[in-house]
Amino acid sequence: MTFQQWTRWVLERVETALENYLPPATTEPAQLHEAMRYAVLGGGKRVRPLLCHAAGELSGASAECLDAAAAALEMIHVYSLVHDDMPCMDDDALRRGRPTVHVQYDEPTALLVGDALQSQAFVALTAEILAPAQQAALVRELALASGSTGMAGGQAIDLASVGHVLSRAQLETMHRMKTGALLRAAVRMGALAGVAPDAKQMHALDTYAAAVGLAFQVVDDILDVTADSAVLGKTAGKDAKDGKPTYVSIMGLEASRTLAAHLRSEAHAALAPFGARALRLAELADLVVNRVS
Ligand code: IPE
Ligand code: IPE
Ligand code: MG
Ligand code: MG
Ligand code: MG
Repeated sequence: MTFQQWTRWVLERVETALENYLPPATTEPAQLHEAMRYAVLGGGKRVRPLLCHAAGELSGASAECLDAAAAALEMIHVYSLVHDDMPCMDDDALRRGRPTVHVQYDEPTALLVGDALQSQAFVALTAEILAPAQQAALVRELALASGSTGMAGGQAIDLASVGHVLSRAQLETMHRMKTGALLRAAVRMGALAGVAPDAKQMHALDTYAAAVGLAFQVVDDILDVTADSAVLGKTAGKDAKDGKPTYVSIMGLEASRTLAAHLRSEAHAALAPFGARALRLAELADLVVNRVS
């Protein structure tokens, strides 16, 4: 299978899994469920599900188990986007080429969509297809990555940093938490959904995931400056306008690009012990760094 064929295969599976793990739009309260489905379905690059499936190839996880973990990861991610876009955070009107949830519906609905998606993620992760011990390990992984020492904590630092000049180390910590943690969890959860790799292999995967996770937000910062809103599907130029500390604001565009390329090499090097078995993970590192949206 080529990389394109493989991604198409995963994306189709993940779309179906998300359809099935989300409550139907007809279930009461119908507007909340409709808004949850509006936020999640039919958009987004699905990078976290792709990483989860790619890591799952190494651990021999079944595709169905990976679908559950991937759906949970994407629901947490979308919850973070819905809240990130609200007026009390980044105040954005465009996401995935469409009006953000609080614009399309209203602010209370957007708040509840985020809350409910967070809970629904853990419903998916405790699907019967996963063995109880696996469920517990996956739940802990996702909860840690998305909570106050991971994504939510990173978002708190992001908001507190507006208008301040951060050191390179502070910026890196913020990025590793707000974005890196969930991407790292995607890789680890793919591994945990199968026969968990030994400590040495898990360490190699962690090194890979840390590099890809940081690279992802470095590229997000670059694209905010270089890409068009139409291609991005979200409003470009927002970071500078809002006084957000980013890699571009701290080290400039060229140094940010160099860093992203360096992190890509670091990710590739970490995969060496796995050889050809890690092909998809290597290709995904390239996708993360070379993406245009
Ligand atoms: C955007 O994430 C927010 C960040 C964590 C940088 P993505 O770039 O993965 O957004 P979608 O899912 O493709 O819309
Ligand atoms: C968002 O970072 C990170 C999370 C949503 C956790 P950004 O605020 O840079 O994401 P975009 O640029 O709005 O997608
Ligand atoms: Mg933000
Ligand atoms: Mg934002
Ligand atoms: Mg951004």
